[in-house]
Amino acid sequence: MLSAQITGWGKCLPPAVLTNDDLTHLMDTSDEWIRTRTGIGERRISHVSTSTMATVAAKHALACAGLSGEDIDMIILASATPDTLVPNIAATVQAEIGANCAAFDINAACSGFLYALGLATAQIRSGQNRRVLIIGAERLSFYVNWTLRDTAVLFGDAAGAVIVEAVEQSEPTGVLAYAMHNDPSGREHLRVQGFGSDLDRLSPEATEFFLDFNGREIFKRAIAGMGALSQQVLEQAGVSKEEVDLVVPHQANVRIIDTLVAKMGLPAEKAFVNIEHHGNTSAATIPMALCDALEQGRIHPGDTLLSCAFGAGLTSAAALIKW
Ligand code: ACO
Repeated sequence: MLSAQITGWGKCLPPAVLTNDDLTHLMDTSDEWIRTRTGIGERRISHVSTSTMATVAAKHALACAGLSGEDIDMIILASATPDTLVPNIAATVQAEIGANCAAFDINAACSGFLYALGLATAQIRSGQNRRVLIIGAERLSFYVNWTLRDTAVLFGDAAGAVIVEAVEQSEPTGVLAYAMHNDPSGREHLRVQGFGSDLDRLSPEATEFFLDFNGREIFKRAIAGMGALSQQVLEQAGVSKEEVDLVVPHQANVRIIDTLVAKMGLPAEKAFVNIEHHGNTSAATIPMALCDALEQGRIHPGDTLLSCAFGAGLTSAAALIKW
């Protein structure tokens, strides 16, 4: 049986730390408000482009898998903050790692990494490609207006990458199941306004863009969306929630994660949470969380991982992975 297994992983965390206390010098906020409402204590701010962070993460993932760029058959890069729209930045990473393969970007916002994992798994199961590099990379500080306290405190910059490889095993392993969904009825609840080809580029407003969202609506829909897709992958794989060793959710708010696992009837300790140090890094949160969980010894060979995400679109996605 042909399965899609994660064989390498790597991350890029920019060195510049912006703490909650630092933010109090820029806007009317407090460490106490940010921590209690979100679980965030600090975030990283990048002075380099999204593709540069993506390349660093990709090189670590390749080294971890014992591969070089030439071994890769396809690169899928998930980002809502690419440094260039044309060409796609998967091409920039490809040039840096010396790969001779297909390469493209996808934008499914915070669900982008799990969308990429689903696409990579389908490629591998079909026999079309054997080694896919997938990356979630974001420079969200680019969208942030540092005077707007309701959005500026939430986001950070980072990149994470994994190598997904074809493995032949008698029992299913690696990605056991994946699911993706989009609910367009909520697309107005989370968006970047004032940026895109629908604008008159000669108008003065065309130079102003900003991230705009309805936090309360997203909060509720994120819990419902991640819960529904998680249930879907468990059913697809015939795995009970009790068999899940670790939940690796998108990191948007620790209260979303706590409510999600409580609603699923799982103990809070089963959820991996690293939002305190990174904030919300959108498509990068899940590969970053995988790397951090591995570094902390929270993932062991044979473990069953449930990963789920939610983001602008409104996208949702989940994957069940036998490590
Ligand atoms: N510091 C201090 N006070 C603040 C701040 C801040 N940084 N931001 C807002 N406030 C104030 C508001 O002005 C408001 O004051 P008021 O009551 O006097 O009007 C009060 O705090 C409450 O504001 P709310 O927006 O209602 O706060 P809420 O409890 O909903 O928390 C939050 C906001 C954290 C954004 C929450 O709604 C949330 O986590 N939503 C989901 C996550 C999300 O939307 N993330 C965006 C990306 S999407 C994704 O990744 C899935």
